[in-house]
Amino acid sequence: MARKIVIASGKGGVGKSSMTKGICLSLADLGFRVLAIDCDIGLRCLDILFDTGSRCVFDWGDIICEVCGPFKAITEAGRVDVLAAPSQLLPEFTPLAARSMVKKFDNDYDYIILDAPAGIGSAFMLAAAMADEGIIVSTPDPVCVRAAEKAGAELKKQGVGEVRLIINKFNKGAVENKFLLNIDDTIDSTGIRLIGVVPEDPEIPFHYTSGKNLSKKSPASKAFIRVAKRISGERLPLNLKLLK
Ligand SMILES: Nc1ncnc2c1ncn2[C@@H]1O[C@H](COP(=O)(O)OP(=O)(O)O)[C@@H](O)[C@H]1O
Ligand SMILES: [Mg+2]
Repeated sequence: MARKIVIASGKGGVGKSSMTKGICLSLADLGFRVLAIDCDIGLRCLDILFDTGSRCVFDWGDIICEVCGPFKAITEAGRVDVLAAPSQLLPEFTPLAARSMVKKFDNDYDYIILDAPAGIGSAFMLAAAMADEGIIVSTPDPVCVRAAEKAGAELKKQGVGEVRLIINKFNKGAVENKFLLNIDDTIDSTGIRLIGVVPEDPEIPFHYTSGKNLSKKSPASKAFIRVAKRISGERLPLNLKLLK
């Protein structure tokens, strides 16, 4: 049965979709079968990040509404399969319907990674309904940390079991100069157990969000592989030397 992990945050722009792509590709590099599901109804972007846009015809709303079968809606993006988000929220998209849609893929993937929208509205609730585990993404600043704490609590309220934290856009210099919160303060304020720290990396805005891949040596790329290994059960200590 596939492990279903929702990537959420509360605030927008903290890196949920970038983390979704990084985690999916790294899990695939480790040999796992991975499906990425875009849950950002009306504002989908995984088709851009995975460069599947021009080939993408159906979305998961079409599966729920029985316009197409589950595998017809999937677009291949090399080592990862991608399922696009619907363009609008329909009354048919109940938490129960979303949950049973995602379960159709249970036997075909090891991991289903769900890219949640910003906020804690209806589309966020659907993403939560599809997941068993959660990863909250936060940048180390007080505004995002507060939203992360709220989003984490909401996921738990919705029955998502284990919830863990990625601190994204970490910048050692800014933390040392006290412009940003340090790792311990971010963990304490969110109250969520850490699964990884991804440094601020110019390769992400330059390459990642336009469908290209990171170089294997880029700091974010190394961080993604460590997060993927921890997700799959490896015990890896936090390596502060990898953080710039
Ligand atoms: N680690 C990072 N370093 C630098 N830029 C990043 C990083 N993670 C994300 N970004 C940039 O931040 C912006 C928002 O990222 P995105 O993944 O779309 O966030 P969200 O899905 O939470 O709205 C994008 O321009 C992306 O390139
Ligand atoms: Mg996003």
